Amino acid sequence: MSVETLLSAASSIQCIAPARVNLLGEHTDYTGGLVLPMAIPFFTTATIAPSADGEYHFRSDLFDGTLTAARSDRSPGRGDWTDYPIGVLRQLQQRGIVPPAFDLHLGGNVPLGAGLSSSASVEVASALAMLTFSGATLGAEEIALLCQRAENEFVHSPCGIMDQFAITAARAGHALLLHTRDLTYEILPMNHGALAATQIVVCNSMVKHSVASGEYGVRRRELEAGQAVLREEFPPLRDLGDATLQQLEAARPLMPHRSYLRCRHIISDNGRVRQASEAMFAGDPVAFGRLMLAGHASERDDFQCSIEEIDFLVETAAALPGCFGARLTGGGFGGCTVNLVAREHSASFATSLKQAYHQRYGITAETYLCDAVDGAYILNQQLATNN
Ligand code: GLA
Repeated sequence: MSVETLLSAASSIQCIAPARVNLLGEHTDYTGGLVLPMAIPFFTTATIAPSADGEYHFRSDLFDGTLTAARSDRSPGRGDWTDYPIGVLRQLQQRGIVPPAFDLHLGGNVPLGAGLSSSASVEVASALAMLTFSGATLGAEEIALLCQRAENEFVHSPCGIMDQFAITAARAGHALLLHTRDLTYEILPMNHGALAATQIVVCNSMVKHSVASGEYGVRRRELEAGQAVLREEFPPLRDLGDATLQQLEAARPLMPHRSYLRCRHIISDNGRVRQASEAMFAGDPVAFGRLMLAGHASERDDFQCSIEEIDFLVETAAALPGCFGARLTGGGFGGCTVNLVAREHSASFATSLKQAYHQRYGITAETYLCDAVDGAYILNQQLATNN
């Protein structure tokens, strides 16, 4: 029986993709560095079913408007939410995977513009749904790369690979140490030793963050300019993932000061991720927390991607009972902080942090107590197979 026949008898396929929070290693994922994200229990759902009229239909519970596109349509993005699933569809089509006509319905609860990768979550859920609906499979790495290309080329957002990879490959109870140069990764348990008694608390400053907005691209260009100088000075250095602080100091006079600062953040953050993985194996939340605080100082002073409200949340958190460490997470310029907190204190920690923030800025922050969940998966596949 052909896939088309199968699908005409199908009801629907539902795929789920989580959100992610990054524990350490920020902006390191587009210069061959290390990142340490985990998937968190917020979800995008992508439900796909055959369409009656031979066209593609896109709708979402989260945004207004629906879109209908002919299967032959290749028009550019519209600058709204539909660019994410359509960007993914274009990438599939370029690989020769042309899904039968479908109705794609997106839903979920990932906070938008909070730096928790709502975009990557939509991309990965859509990709998995469209692939399954087409009777095709791709490995986790290929799905992540395909979704990143959709975002780079169709949404025109210059993001790295961390979000799509974490959302695809994450494992419950673990963080994912990703080497972004070659996409090898290790799954690190979050429950060794004293870490078992901690929890990740995410605090949403409610100040919107957007990777597509200019500052991310500006930082990226400043960083890449510094990387180019280092490569020139120290062949065969491949990227900042290889570079040392000594090399950077030697090349400092040859690059703009901003590039120097950006590179210093990246090289030191790569070092912190390495140390953090040792702290995880040792089950040492104190060491891990110190690295988070140092990471924040580096984001604030060297990468300069923090904002006043986020600095306040980090400083306040660090002084609260049970908190081992805190930092800005994600692209920056707003969004969320990530906090490592003794589990017995996590609820009161969240309450006190929100109170202090509201008192200072009049903004009601949101806090999320998170344990690491699995990456994207197919929830159900109600295809009739026997007619
Ligand atoms: C955003 C991007 C990621 C990464 C982070 C910063 O989330 O999508 O690729 O660069 O910012 O670490």
